[in-house]
Amino acid sequence: MFDAKNIWKERVAGVLNEVLEENGVRGNLDGAGITAEKPPKPELGDIAFPVFPFAKILKMPPPRIAAAAADKLAGFSDGEVRAAGPYINVRLDRGQAARAVLNAVFDSGKDFCKSDALKGRRVMAEFSSPNTNKPLHLGHLRNNALGESVSRILAACGAEVLKVCIFNDRGIHICKSMLAYIEKLDGTTPESAGEKSDRFVGDCYVAFNAMSKTDSGAEDRARELLRKWEAGDPATTALWKKMNEWAVNGIKETYRRTGISFDKYYFESETYLRGKEEVLKGLEKNIFYRETDDSVWADLEAEKLGKKTLLRNDGTSLYITQDFGTAIMRHEEWPFDKLIYVVGSEQRYHFQVLFTLLTRLGFDWASDLYHLSYGMVNLPDGKMKSREGTVVDADDLVDKLHDMALAEIREKEREEAVGSAPEIAEKIAIGALHYYLLQITPEKDMLFNPSESISFNGNTGPYLQYMGARISSILKKEGEKNDSANVALLTSDAEWELLKTVAAWPETVNEAAEKMNPSIITSWLYELSKNFSRFYHGCPILGAENPELKRARLALCRAVRRVLRSAFDLVCIPFLEVM
Ligand code: ARG
Repeated sequence: MFDAKNIWKERVAGVLNEVLEENGVRGNLDGAGITAEKPPKPELGDIAFPVFPFAKILKMPPPRIAAAAADKLAGFSDGEVRAAGPYINVRLDRGQAARAVLNAVFDSGKDFCKSDALKGRRVMAEFSSPNTNKPLHLGHLRNNALGESVSRILAACGAEVLKVCIFNDRGIHICKSMLAYIEKLDGTTPESAGEKSDRFVGDCYVAFNAMSKTDSGAEDRARELLRKWEAGDPATTALWKKMNEWAVNGIKETYRRTGISFDKYYFESETYLRGKEEVLKGLEKNIFYRETDDSVWADLEAEKLGKKTLLRNDGTSLYITQDFGTAIMRHEEWPFDKLIYVVGSEQRYHFQVLFTLLTRLGFDWASDLYHLSYGMVNLPDGKMKSREGTVVDADDLVDKLHDMALAEIREKEREEAVGSAPEIAEKIAIGALHYYLLQITPEKDMLFNPSESISFNGNTGPYLQYMGARISSILKKEGEKNDSANVALLTSDAEWELLKTVAAWPETVNEAAEKMNPSIITSWLYELSKNFSRFYHGCPILGAENPELKRARLALCRAVRRVLRSAFDLVCIPFLEVM
């Protein structure tokens, strides 16, 4: 593993201990106590260590500390040390570093980014978790990208990750779609209507909304249907099953298309009774209370979370009721060290209440529950509403991106060259989508701009895919084999910046895992693409001055492609050999 920063941190700690001891103080600093920075100007070197924090214990002005430490750090062959004011600056030996970085990349095979930071930790990641009354929308696409990406990042750091999804398949929402089906569309099927099956169910839901505007009894009839369902009425159950299957199958098709997968699916209909049971147990223990109208409540005033209904007065369950059962069953089945819920920020209160109440019920693992909250996604030309108005359908959006990518391939007259244009267009669409969605920090609201996302230029998924394809084509011309190149020749500024970015890949993954934030990886990818472009334009590869240098540059290209591939995998972007 190439780890210059940590090696130098240890060395700096060592000499600061010496300086301390010379001043009669026992030094017990180690590398972890030293901060490393990037010098503001490249002329100053590659790593800067500020020494202000030690001025007090040393009773010395920082520049004197830096000078004393720099003196003691002279003589290492892998870097040159200079004091500059209150900083110790290290300029690494480029040739040696190049060898170390590229050896690390090639020796570790595909696993250059793999770390042990989370080894032995069991993490369950719940994401997507749609309702079964309509197809996925743009908000789900952000959720899916985050959940899938964070899961892959945590796994790359050694965690054992179980990706799960719960279908909220029972409740009033699905009864509304069912009622409209019975009253308006009975006998038709997705096949007869020629529609994707989840969209067909969504159309029923839209039909319900339309009819409830003029038909004041519609809401009551939907409630009646819910009561019949809870009572196990056979005809209602049969229709519920059929429509849920349509919804679930259609939704799974969208997952497949976008490269999202799960290890386990949960269904609310299979967990809500357990939730109800746990609420009643809490009632018996006086953790919850019953109102005069018979509904069951929790008092969370002490936590400034108000009061919350847990069971309706007719005994039926609410959204939160099932979440008790679901969490408890999950922990019984697969005892986790952490359970991450990837859910929109508008449900922050829901999860605060859930976590607080599970703690009160005595589940000590409740402190391992985490709400990974994310902001809204809108299209530039309008708000996205989930109940009424225009919902941005996930399939439609991917279709649109696909068409735009295909048009671009045709425009560039690359149809022949790429083999199957529709297949490549689809992969470009997915790359564009995921890169755009993941480059924004999760908490922030964002606008999804389709034409910006699919652009082949700029900070986009397709641009990065193009860079990967370009490297592949260079390597194809010159053979892929890793002949022993003298990579110590890679010492120009452009080569050096690119090498340093490659070297930063493992720590980038660790940071993304720690913060559960894939945008740390997309920012690194952008940095990599800028530095590659500078290298590509400034350092001829196939036309290098001599064969030795050419071999060295080809080795650098191979290393870049390798880290690019692992990075693409972690942010769900397909790698393309040609484009
Ligand atoms: N189906 C819910 C919705 O669409 C989200 C479920 C989130 N997960 C959970 N365990 N509550 O709002």
